[in-house]
Amino acid sequence: MSKENGMAPVQVAKFLVGAVVFLVVAIWLLARLATSGFNVDAQVMSKEAVAARLKPVGEAVASDAPPGQRTGEQVYKAICLSCHGAGLAGSPKFGDAGAWAPRIAKGYDTLVTHALQGFNAMPAKGGAADLTDDEVKRAVAYMGNAGGAKFTEPAVGGGAGGDAGAALDPNVAGKKVYESVCVACHGSGAAGAPKFGDKAAWGPRLSKGLEGLVASATKGLNAMPPKGGYTGSDAEFHAAVEYLSNSGK
Ligand code: HEC
Ligand code: HEC
Repeated sequence: MSKENGMAPVQVAKFLVGAVVFLVVAIWLLARLATSGFNVDAQVMSKEAVAARLKPVGEAVASDAPPGQRTGEQVYKAICLSCHGAGLAGSPKFGDAGAWAPRIAKGYDTLVTHALQGFNAMPAKGGAADLTDDEVKRAVAYMGNAGGAKFTEPAVGGGAGGDAGAALDPNVAGKKVYESVCVACHGSGAAGAPKFGDKAAWGPRLSKGLEGLVASATKGLNAMPPKGGYTGSDAEFHAAVEYLSNSGK
């Protein structure tokens, strides 16, 4: 008994010394790991790449245009610049006419399709899934034009043709979309769709306001598919919602 009691303090002391040494070494290793990790990043990323990555954050904060209403330049600076600014990963560099000429030769529609759906190392919508299709189209036009193209940038909040911000006429463009797509459900009121011209069905919905209706119809609502399945421009879809909802006033 007395022998065991005599050993205990020595073992405790050894354990404590061991624990302190272990902790000191562990903390030193962790600190080294943190600083060397940072140093490796700093070496791997060139100043240009760092700048390209840092800049978009500032630009995104600086641009307070509402979602969907950003110009090609704003989208470019917020998203596309991070690769195309420096030509990262083999992307055609902004303003480099030599790199853009073979791309421009594919035509605006092909470039838009590739920007929307992705193309090799180019991620769909540049990785920003919340961009609207029109915003991507504007960014493609902005970048293409900087590389020597003469693309028309779709106007913000208006016609896809670029008519200086003028909204599309609901009774022309909207009617056309309605008759080709929306009529399938809204013509007869199929699947609970508010029927064309039915004031009672539209009354409670109209209180959401035109933009509220556009927003919910864009997202989809129960049996109403996103954009009613329409794949054309946001401006045309907007005009179709206006045409359809006006019928219920
Ligand atoms: C993560 C990096 C990255 C981001 C972000 C990015 N791109 Fe790209 N992009 C690429 C790469 C890489 C290519 C070249 C792909 C190839 O040709 O194989 C490319 C090619 C393209 C092309 C040419 C496609 C073709 O058919 O030749 C267009 C147009 C384009 N990008 C538009 C955009 C737009 C618009 C944005 C912003 C919304 C954007 N990109 C953001 C990497 C990126
Ligand atoms: C496959 C059938 C279908 C098609 C096609 C369709 N809709 Fe709908 N839509 C519906 C249904 C069902 C609702 C009602 C959803 C609910 O309130 O539960 C609806 C509701 C709406 C509303 C009201 C949204 C709200 O917030 O109350 C709008 C606006 C609308 N659709 C617009 C359109 C337009 C524009 C098109 C054509 C581009 C279209 N829809 C195509 C089925 C359809």
